[in-house]
Amino acid sequence: MSEGSFVTPFAERFGMRVPVVQAPMLGGATTPAMVAAASNAGAFGFLAGAALAPEKIASEVAAIRALTDRPFGVNLFALPPATPDEATVRRALEAIDPIRAELGLPPGNPLERYAPDFRAQLEKLIELRVPVVSFTFGLLSKDDVERLRAAGSYVIGTATHVAEGLAWRDVGADAIVAQGAEAGGHRGTFIGAFEDALIGTMALVPQLVDATGLPVLAAGGIMDGRGIAAALALGAQAAMMGSAFITCAESAISPAWKERLRSMSDTSTSVTRAITGRHARGIRNPLMQRLSESPHKVAPYPVQNGLTQELRQAAGRAGNSDYLSLWSGQGAPLGRKRREGLGAAELVGQLEQEWHAAAARIGALKR
Ligand SMILES: Cc1cc2nc3c(=O)[nH]c(=O)nc-3n(C[C@H](O)[C@H](O)[C@H](O)COP(=O)(O)O)c2cc1C
Repeated sequence: MSEGSFVTPFAERFGMRVPVVQAPMLGGATTPAMVAAASNAGAFGFLAGAALAPEKIASEVAAIRALTDRPFGVNLFALPPATPDEATVRRALEAIDPIRAELGLPPGNPLERYAPDFRAQLEKLIELRVPVVSFTFGLLSKDDVERLRAAGSYVIGTATHVAEGLAWRDVGADAIVAQGAEAGGHRGTFIGAFEDALIGTMALVPQLVDATGLPVLAAGGIMDGRGIAAALALGAQAAMMGSAFITCAESAISPAWKERLRSMSDTSTSVTRAITGRHARGIRNPLMQRLSESPHKVAPYPVQNGLTQELRQAAGRAGNSDYLSLWSGQGAPLGRKRREGLGAAELVGQLEQEWHAAAARIGALKR
């Protein structure tokens, strides 16, 4: 494709030569260097802001702005404050403490705070006038969406089924992330049971395109140019890719996690709520298996997440991937064909060539 021509209205709006959005990923992957590299390379970078205090969001946004003058996004978890009762925390720690002990940590204690205050994060985002903002885990009010839009931000909501997409449309969202069941990391589901919302990307994207009439970004299982071409054929305006970027040089996840990502297979992941209290897809390991043995002890998100954090950090420092949360999508083994330590810009360049080749192959089938 020639410079200056864009494949979809979403790509055109944000000047993207490559219809790829680097997905926001909590846990150290989406550093300012990663976000800026993706945007500078002609794709679109996204910062995971959910775990960051408002001041840290501001400093990370400043770091991105120092590295690129191209558009980028910030993602938050739309959640009410956590107010766990003592019994919930005690029960959760009964299952967590034996694992802490094995890693040389004393018994855990209730935390003062389990997650940053969402309202304060949102106010900071409005103040920062970020080009694109996206949300998962919940729905914003019409008022909040209007305030973000008045500040110049383009607002994206995450949906795992059609009713969620319609809810986002009704509060005024500009676009929808269609998060298929293949996706790595937490499920965005906020209406109905998670089991009912495990809809594959292939089935979900066209249904959300038809139902909402909004631009849809396809997320889940897209790892190379074939997946990008497929997403566009389904009516998506860009592919949102997480697992493909997580092993990039700019990603600051622990080397032990990167190694596991490079040795996993298509059947290596499960969806579990045992590690954080909210369903998420990751590579099965002893941490997932042991905490899954007592499901009634698992506290809701973000309490369980906060209570397991210190032991996961200790495991990370020790290079022990048995006790890390190894979030990953089902397509991640497709990333093995790429050079280890590839930079995000180089990945975007490869994806551009690959999806053009895939589209040409599909075009050739007509003749
Ligand atoms: C390690 C990891 C962390 C993630 N963290 C977030 C997050 O903070 N916010 C969010 O909206 N999605 C998060 N996701 C989901 C991604 O945005 C996206 O939906 C997913 O990666 C797409 O599927 P794929 O991994 O198969 O590409 C995360 C995914 C991974 C793998």
